[in-house]
Amino acid sequence: MTTLLPVFAFILISLSWPSICHPLDPLSPTEINQIKLIVHKSHLGSIPNLTFHFVDLEEPEKDHVLKWLSSHKKDESFPYRRARVVVRASSKSHDLIVDLSTSSILCDQVYTGHGYPPFASEEFFQASRLPSKDPHFQDSILKRGLNVSEVTCLPLTTGWFGEIVTRRLLRLSCFYRGGTTNIWARPISGMSILVDVESMKIIEFVDRKKSLLPRAEGSDFQSSGQRPKPGTCNDTHTNANITGNVVRWANWKFHVAFDARAGLIISTASVFDAGRNKFRDVLYRGHVSETFVPYMDPTTEWYYRTFMDVGEFGFGHSANTLVPLIDCPGNAIYMDGYLAGVDGKAHSIPRAICIFEQDKGNPAWRHTELGVPGRVIITGQQEINLVVRMVSTVGNYDYVLDWEFQQSGSIKVGVSLTGVLEMKPVPYIFSHQITEDIYGTLVAENTVGNYHDHFLTYYLDLDVDSINNSFMKAKLRTKRVKDKHFSLRKSYWEVVKETVKTETDARIQLGWEPAELLFVNPNNRTKIGNHVGYRLIPSQPAISLLADDDYPQIRAAYTKYQVWVTSYNKSERWAGGFYADRSQGDDGLAVWTRRNRPIVNKDIVLWHTIGFHHIPCQEDFPVMPRIHGGFELRPANFFERNPLLKQL
Ligand code: MN
Ligand code: CU
Repeated sequence: MTTLLPVFAFILISLSWPSICHPLDPLSPTEINQIKLIVHKSHLGSIPNLTFHFVDLEEPEKDHVLKWLSSHKKDESFPYRRARVVVRASSKSHDLIVDLSTSSILCDQVYTGHGYPPFASEEFFQASRLPSKDPHFQDSILKRGLNVSEVTCLPLTTGWFGEIVTRRLLRLSCFYRGGTTNIWARPISGMSILVDVESMKIIEFVDRKKSLLPRAEGSDFQSSGQRPKPGTCNDTHTNANITGNVVRWANWKFHVAFDARAGLIISTASVFDAGRNKFRDVLYRGHVSETFVPYMDPTTEWYYRTFMDVGEFGFGHSANTLVPLIDCPGNAIYMDGYLAGVDGKAHSIPRAICIFEQDKGNPAWRHTELGVPGRVIITGQQEINLVVRMVSTVGNYDYVLDWEFQQSGSIKVGVSLTGVLEMKPVPYIFSHQITEDIYGTLVAENTVGNYHDHFLTYYLDLDVDSINNSFMKAKLRTKRVKDKHFSLRKSYWEVVKETVKTETDARIQLGWEPAELLFVNPNNRTKIGNHVGYRLIPSQPAISLLADDDYPQIRAAYTKYQVWVTSYNKSERWAGGFYADRSQGDDGLAVWTRRNRPIVNKDIVLWHTIGFHHIPCQEDFPVMPRIHGGFELRPANFFERNPLLKQL
């Protein structure tokens, strides 16, 4: 029997994972269900109330993947397939490595550090239903003259504020649906409800008996109906060749994966260089690593709202089924996503990712030549890009995550924020009535939109022309002209290039000095001798303004710099640490870089944070028009000349 088992498992694998087999493919539903079975058959299976919190591909060793990709025997399947699984059993987090080809658990470690794995959606659901059965809560709602059946309570993570012993907790924020479909518009204030998630019980209920409730009028939102009818526009197809999860489009080739935690992962992106007649590596892996959304209201019902959405909720767990002609244009191709539920069973999110060609009507380049006597010569080329998109709705907010591939060799990474503000009721109808700190903007009568930030920190393992890269600052410095016989100019700028030696020197707060930030391959030059590279064109600079000793900031120390560069380490992917819920800042980007590892001519990883300081305004009510931020990874002396032109 024991000798037969691996053979059986192999058949199972080859059935579930046939021609697609790229080592970075996300777990298939068959594999997720297989993992459930393996865990249940192990010693963990007999423990009651076993819950699944994280089920993901255990990333194979990078050198194995690169070797497999470069070998010409791609019809041979990758030698192993493993998953990382975190389950909770008897109030302990078991961190498992599950081997799918032998159907066995290779490693089972009980995690004893600070913080907890992501919540399971079912836990949010169960917690949110507790108040409706609680007599104290029912009483409080009745005393407010409200109808319990029209109250929705939503679970919020609780952060960490110096507690020595922590528990898995959720706080519930309740809203009145009466008279509106916008549940966020009518928050019920004056209540604190704390839920212990392990026992799934309300352990604290405080009613401050303050009954403020914004009115329902004007809080609904419907679209204005300016939606193109299917088939009337944008219904041309997308010229992309998609095999399994590998996308080939124009001069690009990359791998797309849905991921329960990161949402969307782009891997092994390489660009075809017609001059060299080969694909050249650009990005080994890129995804959102963590977010930080702290609210700027220190009062009892708000202080703890300091969310790390990726580690606490999961961008993939919060992913939407995309709606054609709202989320993606008519020419989009869709991919489904799969994740494990609290019981380990596979669930699908149909149309979780869309891929489409986008023509915004821009020239990719152009020129009007007036210098030729008697002629006006206009040349140029239309810009068409390929966009990979997913949308994650974490509570009130919707994040549209885009990866845009350009034929110029650029990758533009973008995020759009839309959705509904988190709001609180106030007694004021006019802004001139306000005499106290309200920690936000009066966005409608009796309604404050609280000040807050959104930070999204990206993991970008750039491998420009293979893995050994260096990080370079090309600083622009003002130079004075001393000799007036040399020039009539008094000043100009020059470029001072500096290779950054170690991790602490690579931490950058943008906006203080003009500099180009580059990943270069010091082992590869263009024909005319420049080091090949890719440059980061950053987003608008925004860093966290919280005090360094403030608890949320200790946990989210990665938001103090917009740029970090680390030495590649497979286990360092989550900027706020893997166990992000109630974390205490002892894992993550800021801690890893304290080792100050050398980063010259090594496999290195770029981390970049997009930030929004959000001062709400009336236009953000009742639903917020999309706001966009992003950055560009752009070739710099990578190609011999403009790659959009015919190569010589
Ligand atoms: Mn790298
Ligand atoms: Cu916001």
